[in-house]
Amino acid sequence: MKRLHDMINQEGIVLSDQVLKVDAFLNHQVDPTLMWEIAYEFMDRFQDAGITRILTIEAGGIAPAMMTALRLGVPMVYARKTKSVTLNEGTISAEVFSFTKQQTSTITVAEKYLQPGERVLIIDDFLANGEAAFGLARLVEQAGAEVAGFGIVIEKSFQPGRQKLIEAGFRVESLARVESLKDGKATFVDSVTV
Ligand code: G4P
Repeated sequence: MKRLHDMINQEGIVLSDQVLKVDAFLNHQVDPTLMWEIAYEFMDRFQDAGITRILTIEAGGIAPAMMTALRLGVPMVYARKTKSVTLNEGTISAEVFSFTKQQTSTITVAEKYLQPGERVLIIDDFLANGEAAFGLARLVEQAGAEVAGFGIVIEKSFQPGRQKLIEAGFRVESLARVESLKDGKATFVDSVTV
């Protein structure tokens, strides 16, 4: 997606050969028009997939997930990473290990917002090792629903998340596939942009 590639090149900051900071438009300040265009791309790719719900995880996934839900005309729910006093009815949980933080956390969603038989599109801001992605997929499967695919804003293709999801049989659509973060610059897997 050309505008996303341009934003990464112009506004992104390569913090190391592993980490890309995109606080200017995605992870802290959020660019609403970019999110709306991102949502168009996800809608275009998944509009025939029979999606009934979007699932994401707080916090970075919420903005693109919300816009995509609006485009597709379906509800959106985000998994919580911390316990909430209001999350007091039937819940579904999964464990997620974070390589970045080197700790395991529990992600939770209320079962009434993830119903059996639903076809769920999982949206997230980053795909790195795939731990969060698999945790979200386990929530969907526990609910008796089906993962229709993953919509990822920025995939770090040099990390194993995508490959692991593909090997598990999932459809993965990433709008920017970062091949490397060398010499302070992001390069992309394919130069073909849409
Ligand atoms: P994984 O889920 O793919 O295995 O990834 P990992 O444990 O390595 O990443 C954990 C957190 O770090 C996630 O956010 C993920 O989005 C974020 N992350 C991973 N790589 C990058 C990167 O290069 N740049 C940025 N900006 N974020 C990255 P989180 O902790 O769940 O936080 P948030 O969504 O609340 O911000």
